[in-house]
Amino acid sequence: ALSLPAPIFAALAPSSFLLAHLTQPQSSTKKRKRPSVRPNGRLATESRVPVINTNSLAHANGSAVVRLGDTAVVAGIKGELLYAKDIPNPPPSSKRLREVGGSAPPLDEDDEAKSLAELGLLVPNVELSTGSHPAHLPGTAPTALAQTLAERLLETLQETRLVSLDQLEIWGSRSTMARDEEEMDVDASEEQRDDDGDETGKESIMAYWAIYIDILFISLDGNAFDAAWGAVMAALKNTTLPHAWWDEEREMILCDADLERSRSLTLRGLPVSVSFGIFDSTAEPRMTNSTAGADAAEANLGSGRWLLTDLDDSEETACKESISAVVDGASGALQLRKLQKVGGGVADLAVMEEVLKLAEQRWKEWKRIL
Ligand SMILES: *[C@@H]1O[C@H](CO)[C@@H](O)[C@H](O)[C@H]1NC(C)=O
Ligand SMILES: *[C@@H]1O[C@H](CO)[C@@H](O)[C@H](O)[C@H]1NC(C)=O
Ligand SMILES: *[C@@H]1O[C@H](CO)[C@@H](O)[C@H](O)[C@H]1NC(C)=O
Repeated sequence: ALSLPAPIFAALAPSSFLLAHLTQPQSSTKKRKRPSVRPNGRLATESRVPVINTNSLAHANGSAVVRLGDTAVVAGIKGELLYAKDIPNPPPSSKRLREVGGSAPPLDEDDEAKSLAELGLLVPNVELSTGSHPAHLPGTAPTALAQTLAERLLETLQETRLVSLDQLEIWGSRSTMARDEEEMDVDASEEQRDDDGDETGKESIMAYWAIYIDILFISLDGNAFDAAWGAVMAALKNTTLPHAWWDEEREMILCDADLERSRSLTLRGLPVSVSFGIFDSTAEPRMTNSTAGADAAEANLGSGRWLLTDLDDSEETACKESISAVVDGASGALQLRKLQKVGGGVADLAVMEEVLKLAEQRWKEWKRIL
């Protein structure tokens, strides 16, 4: 028989390697069967404990390093001013949206999220550092992975409504002199200003805080999204923006250098991303035949199929079906904020129920650490 050292076997045939571990015959003398163990030593639904350090970057307004085993990621937050006059057709402000809602208005979160997205005030960017992963060599173009992650982060930020618009708006009123000048200069734009309900004399939005979220993977060993989202959450929770106001005379925004007067970002809820993989050994060509009989008995989904949590890099290669849930239990009952399922056809309702049960446990774990 052909026999290979374990690392070579793992690299050549990750699926067979994973299967060989999951179905490894346990000591037969024991009456109680031990559950199957993955090559990384974890049980099928055992996740790596996240480790978080906040405020690690001195020149960011908020930052965090998150480690999930050998996946390590840094997120740095920087607030930058975006002047309202540089935005051609600004969407309705949070105040305006509140007014439209009536006298006792619950702020319409959908419209507010639309304004926030249109303004593009949340800007995630992802980079993989050289050497973070064997496939990521120096000098290669930005990977599809980095772009996909950045898009998913933006979607998740928008769909969870994590950051409210009102705290990013900086209001002020123009001085009478500047207003007169402007009225003489540009009639057309003044007309439009009236349309927006920001009549002269009243307060209007002078600028916005744009929140740049820079994410750098130091090393990558699977489950990149959960780690990146954890880092974003931890960094945003750690973010303070300086006190900023509109100075009528100088016609510009001024920021207070006094950190005492800065305020932290308020986040809605505590969404956490929990990702899973389904390993379907029956869909794989076999390299080993020693374990055929054990599959059915050991698999946590039956018939040679496993639901695995927090995949590492080689498991991601072996699992063709993945599920990623963004859940939030901050308001009491667990809420499913976003669900993504890619590939395969094993996950049915029963599997999804299991996924949500495990996601709730995992949410509690992240909550404790965040
Ligand atoms: C935070 O952001 C402001 C504006 O971008 C900047 O002036 C300030 O130095 C930043 N840093 C810290 C540590 O607050
Ligand atoms: C950010 O993290 C640092 C260090 O852990 C902490 O001292 C600081 O209070 C945090 N800031 C916020 C707004 O949570
Ligand atoms: C696996 O091994 C058994 C004997 O142990 C044999 O009967 C069977 O045909 C083998 N299956 C495959 C797919 O090679």
